[in-house]
Amino acid sequence: MTQTEKNRAADEAQKPASRTTGDKVVIFDTTLRDGEQSPGATMTHAEKLEIAGLLDEMGVDIIEAGFPIASEGDFAAVSEIARRAENAVICGLARANLRDIDRCWEAVKHARRPRIHTFIGTSPLHRAIPNLTQDEMAERIDETVTHARNLCDDVQWSPMDATRTEWDYLARVVEIAINAGATTINIPDTVGYTAPVESADLIRRLINEVPGADEVVFSTHCHNDLGMATANSLAAVAGGARQIECTINGLGERAGNTALEEVVMAMKVRGDLMPWTTGIDTTKIMNISRRVAAVSGFAVQFNKAIVGKNAFAHESGIHQDGMLKNAETFEIMRPEDIGLAGTSLPLGKHSGRAALRAKLKELGIEVGDNQLKDIFVRFKDLADRKKEVYDDDILALVHTAGEGE
Ligand code: KIV
Ligand code: ZN
Repeated sequence: MTQTEKNRAADEAQKPASRTTGDKVVIFDTTLRDGEQSPGATMTHAEKLEIAGLLDEMGVDIIEAGFPIASEGDFAAVSEIARRAENAVICGLARANLRDIDRCWEAVKHARRPRIHTFIGTSPLHRAIPNLTQDEMAERIDETVTHARNLCDDVQWSPMDATRTEWDYLARVVEIAINAGATTINIPDTVGYTAPVESADLIRRLINEVPGADEVVFSTHCHNDLGMATANSLAAVAGGARQIECTINGLGERAGNTALEEVVMAMKVRGDLMPWTTGIDTTKIMNISRRVAAVSGFAVQFNKAIVGKNAFAHESGIHQDGMLKNAETFEIMRPEDIGLAGTSLPLGKHSGRAALRAKLKELGIEVGDNQLKDIFVRFKDLADRKKEVYDDDILALVHTAGEGE
């Protein structure tokens, strides 16, 4: 594909594609903004450029590159990412004031396709912080979204803590933002409070009841405080959202954000239930997961869905035997689909004879049944004492087979 064709395809994908009924779900990655806000996850300028490049390459539709007013460093990173991006829309975050929005525009305007994302906390708890009445906040939203739209054709607006905002007020401010020119309305579950049924209902109700809702894309932005971010995001799509905000490895404040790899693979694997598509090249998932873990310093837990070390590893004898006969017995995805070389069958105390024989074969060692029996007994003895048995251990067992008889 030539660059022009790629750009055209990306523009097409970005069109608020028949909004609530199209089957394309726009992937909005906020690893470099909400992800980087995790205490201790700060990345250097060069690391941010690297991650942005990988996100762009893997087909992320929108990269939220940072919060330009937050620091000179953030401003420089967003500007540079905007200049370099080949396909993705580059977005910056701004609070609901003109200074933030102007600074954001100064950074993102270099992008081929810039977006301004402005937000304000609309729940009673958040309205109390700037001490604004409902009417005063409504005016602020009108003024700031109008200002952003005068600068940029692509404006996203978020009512922070939407899931704890009174329904009437939420519907009112969403309508104001749409009338002021917002093109995407993002509904954040800022504190991971919602549940799947509610997440779907909220989006459905907004789309059905707010005048003008069919003119914009609805987006979902979930946090994982109760471990429901992925489920809530997918439920929101079932309710009509067509943009999911997420991060690589679920990086994000507190318990993190929706994990990109989880929502993307869920839609790919369960297309029968969730018939939506994304533009993500899933074979790039493993590499970017490792890079984000390395640059953020946040290691991925071993049993993390999709990208954890154990997500495609099987130790028990029954599972290993099944996997050696037919990989579908214990795997619902192919490791190659996320860019892994293959399944791993680590040898440990739960492993059986079939896995030991397969490992010996992989090491180029042919043994007869009696020799296998002998090595297996000594392998079990060793595995009882060691968490994992490595190739060198197996070679040593083979080497000493028959000794002591
Ligand atoms: O969680 C949240 O509410 C946010 C907003 C700024 C969108 O990150
Ligand atoms: Zn957030």
